[in-house]
Amino acid sequence: MTLTISTSVSLNGMITPARGATGESVIPFLDVPPGVIEWKREARRRHGAVLVGTHTVLVDDPTLASHATPGHPAVRATLDAAGKIPRHARFFDGTARTLVGVTAETPREYLDFLAGRGVEAVVAGKAEIDLRRFLAGLAEKGISDVLAEGGGTLNRALLAAGLVDRLHLIVFPAVLDAGSVNLFEGGGDLARFRLEGVERVGDFLMVRYGRAI
Ligand SMILES: NC(=O)c1ccc[n+]([C@@H]2O[C@H](COP(=O)([O-])OP(=O)(O)OC[C@H]3O[C@@H](n4cnc5c(N)ncnc54)[C@H](OP(=O)(O)O)[C@@H]3O)[C@@H](O)[C@H]2O)c1
Repeated sequence: MTLTISTSVSLNGMITPARGATGESVIPFLDVPPGVIEWKREARRRHGAVLVGTHTVLVDDPTLASHATPGHPAVRATLDAAGKIPRHARFFDGTARTLVGVTAETPREYLDFLAGRGVEAVVAGKAEIDLRRFLAGLAEKGISDVLAEGGGTLNRALLAAGLVDRLHLIVFPAVLDAGSVNLFEGGGDLARFRLEGVERVGDFLMVRYGRAI
């Protein structure tokens, strides 16, 4: 299993303009060049699934399917032990293979709902989702390389668990409120990365790092 974090980040390391606001809301102010959007979609097509945190699904209501082409169908995953995601969320719209991390304590009613929508539940942990077990569960279902697109809490938890192999950032030309969501929320140990590549499109930088041992 390999895991790459891929997130768009401001010059000061923030991924949303405000707490509770979607990261997508800065897009109209940034004149994002088509080359940047295609870079992100191409990265998704190179991975077996796109993973996002529960709160990203709640705030953004994403489909995670904009990159899909006839040769590259979208596969999306999230975590939701308590069944918090609304039943009408676009995540459950049936347009793509969908997997949800759950636990042994996830309510039966939610598991039944997921099964009814054709969503694959991946049991990983008793009360809280064990990310290593979740990724192993995805691998058992044939998904061996995952692109994790945030948010900051999930990014931090993946890093703390030693599960991050690569870090791909789209650095966008803006400074955001430092009280919003950081690329890696909360505290943690120093983590060292190696620069593997950098591309520029207009005022945007696409930077690729690998985890240094
Ligand atoms: N700029 C970008 O590229 C970008 C990308 C993605 C998201 N975003 C933004 O980021 C924001 C959301 O980020 P966020 O940090 O608040 O939330 P998040 O990382 O999307 O979701 C974190 C939540 O996932 C749940 N979770 C379940 N098991 C977990 C585990 N083992 N480890 C970690 N989390 C687990 C927890 O929710 P419960 O405790 O409630 O179960 C946790 O609080 C949104 O505003 C979104 O727009 C920006």
